[in-house]
Amino acid sequence: MQEKKIDLRVRIGDILLANPIILSPGPFGRTPLSMKQFADAGCAAVCSKTLSSEPWEGNPNPKKMNLSCGWMLNAEGGPNIGIEAFSQRMGPVRDKIKNSHVIISVVGKTIEEFVFLAGQAQQMGADILDLDIPVQMQPKRAPPIRGRRILICFMTL
Ligand SMILES: Cc1cc2nc3c(=O)[nH]c(=O)nc-3n(C[C@H](O)[C@H](O)[C@H](O)COP(=O)(O)O)c2cc1C
Repeated sequence: MQEKKIDLRVRIGDILLANPIILSPGPFGRTPLSMKQFADAGCAAVCSKTLSSEPWEGNPNPKKMNLSCGWMLNAEGGPNIGIEAFSQRMGPVRDKIKNSHVIISVVGKTIEEFVFLAGQAQQMGADILDLDIPVQMQPKRAPPIRGRRILICFMTL
């Protein structure tokens, strides 16, 4: 019997994803090597942990707490090694991330900081930039989404 192929492609702006599975910004995007593993496993795009211009420790410990109802509270506060250290680690890995788009997630406090972060992301070979914009920088009339707005910008490289 002939195998039926399902077309899972998704278009977002100018970018065509082979499927709708994207590694979200978080623990598995802490290193470029880990992003590569998710790319190898078939994710159409892999996102880094959100990076800031300087290394950031995040919230003081404990960052996690088990609740008596069985749930867990987790508030990391954005710990990351900083975009320059991340970029160095991306150097030897970028060309090995194949068949998957690379998203670099960044957070800043000012437009100038975002410009710096975008430049760094571009230099390390990002296809897509994920902007984590603090509430204070959002336009007054735009409703914040869960306290912040995430924009995805597609860069023509
Ligand atoms: C430990 C941890 C770290 C995370 N780090 C980031 C991050 O660096 N940047 C970000 O935008 N979201 C971060 N997230 C949020 C995830 O990307 C995701 O939005 C969240 O887990 C909700 O996904 P879900 O709706 O599929 O459960 C983090 C989540 C967890 C649990």
